[in-house]
Amino acid sequence: MPLQPQIPMNLRNESIGTIQHFSWQENGLSGLAGNKQFSIKFYTSKICRIQASKHEAFDENPFSVVLPPQKVSIDAKETDQSLTLKTANIQLEIKRSPLRLCFKNNHGQILNEDDPAFGISWLGHEVTNYKTLSPNEVFLGLGEKGGGLNRRGSSFVNWNSDAFAFGNDTDPLYLSAPFYIGIREGQPYGIFFDNTHKTHFNFGASNNNRFSYFGAEAGDLNYYFIQGDTVLEVIQEYARLTGTSQLPPKWSLGFQQCRYSYYPDHEVYTVADTFRKKRIPADVIYLDIHYMEDYKAFTFDKNRFPDPKGLIEKLEAQGFKVVVILDPGIATQPGYGTYDRGVEKDIFVKYPDGSRFEASVWPGNSHFTDFTAKEGRDWWADELKFYTDKGLEGFWNDMNEPACWGQDIPNLIEFDYEGQTASHKKARNIYGFQMVRATFEGAKKQLNNKRPFTLTRAGFAGVQRYSAVWTGDNVAGDEDMLLGVRLVNSLGMTGIPVSGYDVGGFVGESAPALFARWLAVATFAPFFRVHSMVNVRDSEPWAYGEEVEEISRNYINLRYQLMPYLYSLFFEAHHKGNPINRSLAVDYYNDQNIYQGNAQNEFTLGQWLLVCPTTTTQEYAKIYLPQGKWYNFFTDELHEGGCHMLVETQMEDLPVFAKEGAIIPLQNVVQTTQEKTDGILKLHLYFGEVETHQTYYEDDGSTYNFEQGQYCKREIYFNGKMGTLQVAKQEGSYTSEFHSLKIHLHGFEANSFEINGESVTFHVEDLQLLAPITEFDPLPQRPKRDYWSKGVKTLEIPFTQEEINLNWK
Ligand code: GLC
Repeated sequence: MPLQPQIPMNLRNESIGTIQHFSWQENGLSGLAGNKQFSIKFYTSKICRIQASKHEAFDENPFSVVLPPQKVSIDAKETDQSLTLKTANIQLEIKRSPLRLCFKNNHGQILNEDDPAFGISWLGHEVTNYKTLSPNEVFLGLGEKGGGLNRRGSSFVNWNSDAFAFGNDTDPLYLSAPFYIGIREGQPYGIFFDNTHKTHFNFGASNNNRFSYFGAEAGDLNYYFIQGDTVLEVIQEYARLTGTSQLPPKWSLGFQQCRYSYYPDHEVYTVADTFRKKRIPADVIYLDIHYMEDYKAFTFDKNRFPDPKGLIEKLEAQGFKVVVILDPGIATQPGYGTYDRGVEKDIFVKYPDGSRFEASVWPGNSHFTDFTAKEGRDWWADELKFYTDKGLEGFWNDMNEPACWGQDIPNLIEFDYEGQTASHKKARNIYGFQMVRATFEGAKKQLNNKRPFTLTRAGFAGVQRYSAVWTGDNVAGDEDMLLGVRLVNSLGMTGIPVSGYDVGGFVGESAPALFARWLAVATFAPFFRVHSMVNVRDSEPWAYGEEVEEISRNYINLRYQLMPYLYSLFFEAHHKGNPINRSLAVDYYNDQNIYQGNAQNEFTLGQWLLVCPTTTTQEYAKIYLPQGKWYNFFTDELHEGGCHMLVETQMEDLPVFAKEGAIIPLQNVVQTTQEKTDGILKLHLYFGEVETHQTYYEDDGSTYNFEQGQYCKREIYFNGKMGTLQVAKQEGSYTSEFHSLKIHLHGFEANSFEINGESVTFHVEDLQLLAPITEFDPLPQRPKRDYWSKGVKTLEIPFTQEEINLNWK
């Protein structure tokens, strides 16, 4: 008889077995199930960590989680069949044979449970946790991933990749954040799979909804289950676990102009002058790879940029900051100082035989700094002095997936991984994160209390603590514009609130209408930068004709008017992990309409401003207004939400709405964030019979003095039913740059007002947030929009540090 080929047992799926023994530990328990180690530990009453391993010691990722386990009060029960652990927020039921977990909330509703057949399983070195799927379970987040808002029915891979010209279906992209939010029977929860190997997530794809799962090619099962009463709370808990974003320098919230590349220096001057001459506000100009000598990091090309320090000073005098690109590859050229010092310090990535890994990137043959080693990061941080000595405060880290020509880095190369020694398989996804960490730490060390700005392409969960993120080499297309918005929305739900995309598209060329729309949409993005590839058309706001120039000026002006609101949102991101652009799934996750059509691209800036990106290929667009009342931000026209709306979209139009109860602080237009305002803080309130709250936050925008209490924070409470607005007494010792508070009331019918108990009279004004566009030849088919908010009630009062109470009847 011929032999039947058989799959060896160790290559078939093997689920974790019965609990053999366990012991109670502080905050949980640990033991052996089958022949696998496991540990269950509460970090807070809402966060529980699960580990399971084939090995004696658990695998650790020292880079992502910053929260140590807190003291949690746990009520534990034991029966022959199961163990139950109860905290104030989570009820965890552990079945003993085989080991299976079921997380419930404190009302006993199941949030997440192991699949009864497979639970935690191994297939060779691969570990996977299979979970049951409830019929309408929704999946959100997972960071920089294309596809729809609800990830149900899709699967994804995390493996940081140089995804040039990516599309909606390209996966993986540049950055990995293995954290998702599930919503089961209306109840949200989060899962952070803390494993830096290549990981897979499957939300019911190709298995007819039998289960969802997450798994890794190697390493342990190591995840954090998070309970939150709302999606926002899950995001905030995740941010406690992996850290929140920096409060960046205020100039990085301004408009940023980039291209691959502006050179020589006089071209940079021309761009800067043109912004100022045309009175289009801007804060930042970028130097892409051509500023370097043969693309070598830590050099300036002597012919193109003979006096970098002078350039930076001159631009600074015009209110511009300069950001330079910096790639991880160091040219292997003896005599090139950076290379020689790197060899001497022995900080380059090596093969297991001790020889240095070499691959080709922009500067030619290169070694790669081992940023997963403290010595590597420290060395890099010191090298950065080359730039900070010249006055640079902004750094753009690119190619840090890491990317090399040929793409396929051999997996055997080794990284320090904080003393653990790990192959490329384990270290790749963490590399970019550690590079930008080194860049941030170096810049911070040398900038003498000034806040650096850092931008990265690759990253991993936790990268938000060090950097803003941009979504890499996108394509100039309408659908790509929308994809970028969804990526930013998703990153925001994944604890990475500060991100953006190349406005106008990096690859290819935008039509004028697309550039105009893209720029309008990005006005509301956390990171606002135009960028385009080498050898394509010019892509400054004036490069697409006069009409686009006017539209661009209008929206960039609006960006600067929004600055007090935006900066307050950056503070909330820094303080609590709140997303700045909120997908509708943040506040309206149980409304099924948001998972369909254009609603998937919509977002609110903070809680109040609904932005509905629409393509330029349609004259009419169907948008969705979530429940509540919404004021057109440009005309004050009031709309009832909870329904779709058909809007006509001309080139200059972007549907933007303010929600009833909105509290939005604005300022006058300035040409750069470094220019002083007129000193009047314009507080816009939109009437509704609702109760709302907004934090207003301000500080010097450039130093760390806020950490010593030098800030100005005001809690603002609106109550439409009672007819009250309270601006609470100032917290913090910073003197606001605003001396006056101009209150703007939209949609208020009341006519009797009191401030701090004294009767006051409001004036009636007509306002324009966007200026009308000139009628250019050939005359457009339809009349141009003229945006007026008519009959706004206004009153200017001193902006003292004391409590301000407004009442109306
Ligand atoms: C990469 C970056 C891009 C940059 C180019 C040249 O493609 O993603 O933004 O312009 O390299 O440095």
